[in-house]
Amino acid sequence: MKIAFCYPDPAATAWFEELRAALPEAEWEDWSADPTPGPGRSGRAEYAVAWAPPQAFIDLHPALKVLLNIGAGVDALMKLRLPASLMLVRLDDAGMAVQMAEYVCHYLIRHVREFDQFQTAARSGQWQQGRPTDRADHPVGIMGLGVLGERVAQAVRQFEFPVLGWSRLPKQVEGVRCFHGQGQLNDFLSATRVLVCLLPLTPETRDLLGQATLSRLRPGGYLINVARGGLLVEEDLIRLIDSGHLAGAALDVFRTEPLPAGHPFWSHPAIQVTPHISARTLRRDSITQIAGKIRALRRGESVAGVVEWERGY
Ligand code: NAP
Ligand code: GLV
Repeated sequence: MKIAFCYPDPAATAWFEELRAALPEAEWEDWSADPTPGPGRSGRAEYAVAWAPPQAFIDLHPALKVLLNIGAGVDALMKLRLPASLMLVRLDDAGMAVQMAEYVCHYLIRHVREFDQFQTAARSGQWQQGRPTDRADHPVGIMGLGVLGERVAQAVRQFEFPVLGWSRLPKQVEGVRCFHGQGQLNDFLSATRVLVCLLPLTPETRDLLGQATLSRLRPGGYLINVARGGLLVEEDLIRLIDSGHLAGAALDVFRTEPLPAGHPFWSHPAIQVTPHISARTLRRDSITQIAGKIRALRRGESVAGVVEWERGY
C-alpha cells in the first residue's frame, strides 16, 4: 500500500515520521514540501493523508481512492476538483471536542459573568460588584449538533444555561431544545441570546451569519464563531454590535486568515479575537485515528467521518 502525505505545515516532517511509525506496513511518500513528481514521489498512491493540498497534488494522483483529511472541516478540499469516486474521510473529534468545549465555556462565562469589566475596574482600584447575572436570561444556541456541537452542548449544560441546538436533520439530544432545518431557524434564533457556531462551511451555510439572522437574536446577543470565517458577514456583525443590538463576539475564525493587519476586529472593544486555536489538531490523537481508519478500510470495514458529497460535509 502506497500512501501520499501532503501537509503544508512547519511540523510536517514530525507528522510524516510518526505516521510512518504508526503504519510501517505502508510505503509513504512525502509531498509536503514539493508537490511535484520526483525521487520518493511516484504518484501511484491509493491513499492520501493531507490538509488543504494544492490541486496539483490531486491531479498527480490518478489512482487515489481514499483521502484522509488532517482536520474536521473539509471546506478547503471541497474547493478542489476531486474525482467523484474519491472517498473523503475527516477527523472526528480526535481530541478536538473537549478543547472546543473549553473554548466556548470560557468565552460564554467570561461574557455572562462580565469578567472583563471586573478586570478593568480592578486595574483602576475599583471595588464594583454590580448585580448578579441570571443564567436563565442567557439561553445558549448551538448551530451544528455534530461531533463538536454535541460535546459543547453537554459542557454548557453543566453550567445550567438553557441550551438550544440547530441541525440540518431532526435530532434528539438530552437536555437540549432541538430545532432543525431552515423552517425552524428563526424560532431557534429568536430564543437564543448567546449563539455558538459549529457548522461546516458549505454552499448552504456560507454567509449564514449576517444581518437577517444575527438581528433575530435576543437583544444583548453574543456570538461565538468557532466554525469557519466564511459563515459570517463581518461588516453585519460590526454594525449590529455598534447599534447596540449585540453585546459582542468571540471569534476564532475569519474570512481571511491570518486576520489582516488593520482589520477592524483587532481593535473593536467588544470583539475578542483568537488565531484559529479553539480546537487544535493534536498529532498523536489524529495519527492514531488516521492509522486506525486506514487499517479498517483495508479490512473492508466502514469508518466514521466519511464525507457525503451532496451535503458537503
Ligand atoms: P459534524 O460532526 O459534521 O457536524 C456538523 C453539524 O452541522 C451537524 O449537526 C449538521 O447537521 C449541521 N449542519 C450542517 N449543515 C447544516 C445546515 N445547512 N443547516 C443546519 N445544520 C447543518 O462536524 P464537527 O466535527 O462537529 O465540526 C464542525 C465544524 O467545526 C467543522 O466543519 C469545522 O469547520 C469546524 N472546526 C473548527 C475548528 C477550529 O479550530 N476553529 C476545529 C475543528 C473544526 P446534521 O446533524 O443534521 O447532519
Ligand atoms: C480545524 O479548523 C479543523 O477543521 O479541524
